[in-house]
Amino acid sequence: LAVTVHAPATVANMVCGFDVLGFSLAAPNDVMHLRLLEQPGVVIINEDDFGLPTEPTRNVAGAALLAMLRAVPEVPGVEVRIRKAIRPGSGIGSSAASAAGAVVGLNQLLGNRFSKPQLVEFAMFGEEVASGVRHADNIAPGIYGGVTLIRATTPTPDVVPLDAPPLFVTVVHPQIEVKTSDARQILKRQVSLQDAIRQWGNVGGLVAGLLKHDYALIGRSLEDVIVEPVRSILIPGFREVKDGSRAVGALGGGISGSGPSLFMLSQDEATARAVETVMRDTYQRLGLEHHIYLTTIN
Ligand code: HSE
Repeated sequence: LAVTVHAPATVANMVCGFDVLGFSLAAPNDVMHLRLLEQPGVVIINEDDFGLPTEPTRNVAGAALLAMLRAVPEVPGVEVRIRKAIRPGSGIGSSAASAAGAVVGLNQLLGNRFSKPQLVEFAMFGEEVASGVRHADNIAPGIYGGVTLIRATTPTPDVVPLDAPPLFVTVVHPQIEVKTSDARQILKRQVSLQDAIRQWGNVGGLVAGLLKHDYALIGRSLEDVIVEPVRSILIPGFREVKDGSRAVGALGGGISGSGPSLFMLSQDEATARAVETVMRDTYQRLGLEHHIYLTTIN
């Protein structure tokens, strides 16, 4: 018995929703093939050139699968072959795709015996290997699809899928390195009441805008006064991309996950293409190699 899984890229920290709002993209996708083994343990075969570890405890998919296997003692082992299209370190959920895809695949091999919240929990063990933090804002949309709110991760993941209207996403990945652990380290430990009020007004507005399919409300709510002012310093071209994208009609956007990718949301494809031009012009001017994805929330 074998299964093939397409694990999507995801955008965490949907602007004001640091650690709590994320969404999945129609592309790029990692492709993973899984099969059960007679012998115990997890076997990882990388079919790409990213040089990721194959030792299961050090591999994101491996750690997630080991966590899941502990819950099914009667199943000895599993093999996973991974062909990544989502570049590690890009900020569009590369590690989460490996972890989420692995547990979704193994669950299929096991006759779908685990629920989605349980899969999120297993996959978070993988995310911990990648960044040292068990955040779920890439994992949850990777498993549920679409836009998800992670209301809480403890005692168990409380994931709320949100019925969003069609949205085009333009993502640019400039070739610089931003480690999630570093990007968390630099955050302020305390926020002012004034900023907190502004932020939860925006989170509430964004969730309401998504559910009501109210693009204007979505646009107004795409503002982050807590994390973005600190992290944007790490990303050259941030201000130009953001202001330039708004000027051509994008609803708004920000840093994807902990960066370095930036994403912008648009109501229609023509605007998403104009945003692509803004992004390309910005990074050509800065002389930075970059990749651009024009896709949709999926
Ligand atoms: N919410 C996480 C962070 C996402 O920003 O640290 C990392 O991909």
